[in-house]
Amino acid sequence: MTVAVESTRRRPRFVPMPSPAADAAAAIIAGLRAPMPTIAPRYFYDVLGARLFEAICELPEYYPTRTEAAILAEHGAQIAAVAGTGATLIDLGAGNCEKAARLFGALRPVQYVAVDIGGEFLRATLERLQQRFPALDMVGVEQDFAEDLHLPDEVDPRRRLFFYPGSSIGNFSPAEAVAFLRRVRAQAGDDGQLLIGVDLVKPAHILDAAYDDSLGVTAAFNLNLLNNVNRLAGTDFDVRDWRHVAFFNATASRIEMHLEAQRDVVVRVGAAAALRWAAGTRIHTENSWKYTPEAFDRLLRQAGFAQVRQWADGRAWFGVFLARA
Ligand code: AVJ
Repeated sequence: MTVAVESTRRRPRFVPMPSPAADAAAAIIAGLRAPMPTIAPRYFYDVLGARLFEAICELPEYYPTRTEAAILAEHGAQIAAVAGTGATLIDLGAGNCEKAARLFGALRPVQYVAVDIGGEFLRATLERLQQRFPALDMVGVEQDFAEDLHLPDEVDPRRRLFFYPGSSIGNFSPAEAVAFLRRVRAQAGDDGQLLIGVDLVKPAHILDAAYDDSLGVTAAFNLNLLNNVNRLAGTDFDVRDWRHVAFFNATASRIEMHLEAQRDVVVRVGAAAALRWAAGTRIHTENSWKYTPEAFDRLLRQAGFAQVRQWADGRAWFGVFLARA
C-alpha cells in the first residue's frame, strides 16, 4: 500500500543553472569599479532577499502586487476566455509562484513551468506548491532568463502562455525590454501568447513612497544586496556604511534605487586593489521603468506581438496586457 501511494506522488522536476555563473564575481567587481558604480538588480534575490521582496509586496505603500492581483482576480475569467485554457504556463520570475497559482483554476494549464534565478527559494516553493496541486505537472527552471531565455526539454512543446507579472519588465530599459520580449516571442512559437503585468506612470509621490516605505523594508532589501555581493564577490561591505536612496526620475520615467556612502568607504576584494568611495557616492542598484498604456502597447508591437488586449484597475495604476505572438 505504502509503495503504491509513494509511486503516485508527483514531484516537481527541477532544472538547475548549468554553471553557477562563475564570472558573477568578476562582473560585480567590474560594475563596482566603473565611474558610475552599479550592481545589477538580479543579485537582490538570495533567500533573504526573496523573503524581503515578499515583505515589500505586503507593504501599504507598495501597490503593484495587490493592484495586479485585483486585476487578475476581477478579469481572470475574461483573460482565460481570450487566452484559452490548456496551455503550458511559463512563469518568468516565478518568485513564490502565488500569482500563477491563483490563475490555475481559470487557465487550467497542462503544465506549469516556473523560471527564476533564485534556485534555492524556487525549489522549496515548488515542492510546497506541488502538495497543493498534486495533479499538475510542474517544472522548475533555475535560470537568469533576462540574459538568455532557453527552455529545457522538460518543457511541454504544446501551446505556450508566457506569464511575466509584477512589472518585472520594468527592470529593463525600453530598448532592452523590446529585445527581451523579442526573445520571448521567438520561444512562444506562432501560437504562443504573453500575459504581462506593467506598472503605469502616476504621480511621483505615490511612486516615491512605494520604493521608500515608512517601515524601511525596501531599504533593508536594497542594503541586503551588499550582503549577497560579499558572498558572491568576496568583498567586505559593511551595510552600516550605506543608506537607501530611491526616487522617481520623471525624465527617464523610472524609479531609481541607489546605495549612498554615509562616510568615506574602503572595501577590500581579496588580494586585488581595494575599492574606495568618498562619502556621498552612490551605487546604482535598480531601475524600475513606468509606462503609459499607449507606450507599453507600442513596445509589445515593436517586439513582434499583436492583438494586444489590456486591463487596468480603476485608478489606472497598473496594467495587465495579453498579446499574441
Ligand atoms: C521585482 C522589479 C518588479 O521594480 O517594483 C520593489 C523590485 N525593488 N521594490 C519593482 C522592487 C524595490 C520590483 N520588481
